[in-house]
Amino acid sequence: MRDEQGKPHTKEDICAHWADEYDRHLGAIVTPIYQTSLFTRKTMNHGYTYTRVANPTTEVVERKIAALEEGEAARCFSSGMAAITAALMSVLEKDSHVVCPLNVYAPTKAFLESYMAKFGVEVTFVSGEDVADFERALRPNTKAIYLETPLSNVFTLQDLRAIATLARSRGIVTIADNTWATPLYQNPIACGIDLVVHSATKYMGGHSDILAGVVVGSEAAMEGLTHRERGMFGAAMDPHQAWLLLRGLRTLPVRMRQHQESALAIAAFLEAHPQVERVLYPGLPSHPQYELGRSQMSGYSGLIGFVPKGSKEQVQRFIKRLELFQEGPSWGGFESLINSPGLWIDEATSRATGMPLNLLRISLGLEHTGSLMDDLDRALAQMNS
Ligand SMILES: Cc1ncc(COP(=O)(O)O)c(C=O)c1O
Repeated sequence: MRDEQGKPHTKEDICAHWADEYDRHLGAIVTPIYQTSLFTRKTMNHGYTYTRVANPTTEVVERKIAALEEGEAARCFSSGMAAITAALMSVLEKDSHVVCPLNVYAPTKAFLESYMAKFGVEVTFVSGEDVADFERALRPNTKAIYLETPLSNVFTLQDLRAIATLARSRGIVTIADNTWATPLYQNPIACGIDLVVHSATKYMGGHSDILAGVVVGSEAAMEGLTHRERGMFGAAMDPHQAWLLLRGLRTLPVRMRQHQESALAIAAFLEAHPQVERVLYPGLPSHPQYELGRSQMSGYSGLIGFVPKGSKEQVQRFIKRLELFQEGPSWGGFESLINSPGLWIDEATSRATGMPLNLLRISLGLEHTGSLMDDLDRALAQMNS
């Protein structure tokens, strides 16, 4: 990424300093929180009017994330779902059609499948591993292809470059949820995708203390979001939330290095463990799409799927025996978490979705890698007793 003077910046530099504008804030090394709903302008024409439209604290976050994603501009929202629904609403029209991977994040799926049906929008779900899945699903009224790669429950990938090329040739807008890889390890816009969405609640925030969302894309598309989807639905980010997200971004590169180090070590450890049937992690050379992953990602985050051997009761006992992992649904924070999407589905659902029965998902936090491994090893050894 290059600044206005053409000076190159690494992602670490962007997280540390990009868009901070110290002179504008009396040299404050930390951008102040402009905790205000409105801006008066009797004596000064600074361009700000109302925080739902623009806020100086939120703008710093938006400029940093746009630079990290190699996009022209970004807009922050009150949560990841607010960002996702705004991006989709900005593209879909009445009676239009969208194609999306079947195992996309469940509320995104529900929004497309049930909620948008009241506007006549139809959705075709595909497995998504092959670009031909998308090509076959296209219709004359297809307006969007929505992606999430890697998928945060089954960890399969979609080919960003191939799908972007297909969509461009048909005038279809592409949107990609990049929450798993983060802008440090994957940049869909550089692969030809039009809009990137994030749940910044996860790694970008990193401390499990905020909900946050962001959309990245062209200046024109972001201007549209400001006045239409964010302006009208009103799911803007609060300035204090933006400040906490800014603080999370400062340490994103070092946190991601630690998440990745633990995840690579623990995925390999689990894969070799006699009590484990399968590990689902794109960073493992045994992952069926390992090469595709290497071609579009430069690293891996800390969310892993694995299937222990044993009955449902034994798997539940394993979860209870863990000491460092808390049981909970989110991921991407400092704390290690486990949840169990594969314990609540039946065989028919497992066959239809490809989600293995007994699938567990662990989010590796910032604890010592060895301690996390020991905790898993001990609980796996105890699951039969
Ligand atoms: C992949 C993915 N996308 C989007 C979201 C939604 O984000 P939020 O919870 O910030 O609304 C989540 C939340 O878990 C997620 O896992």
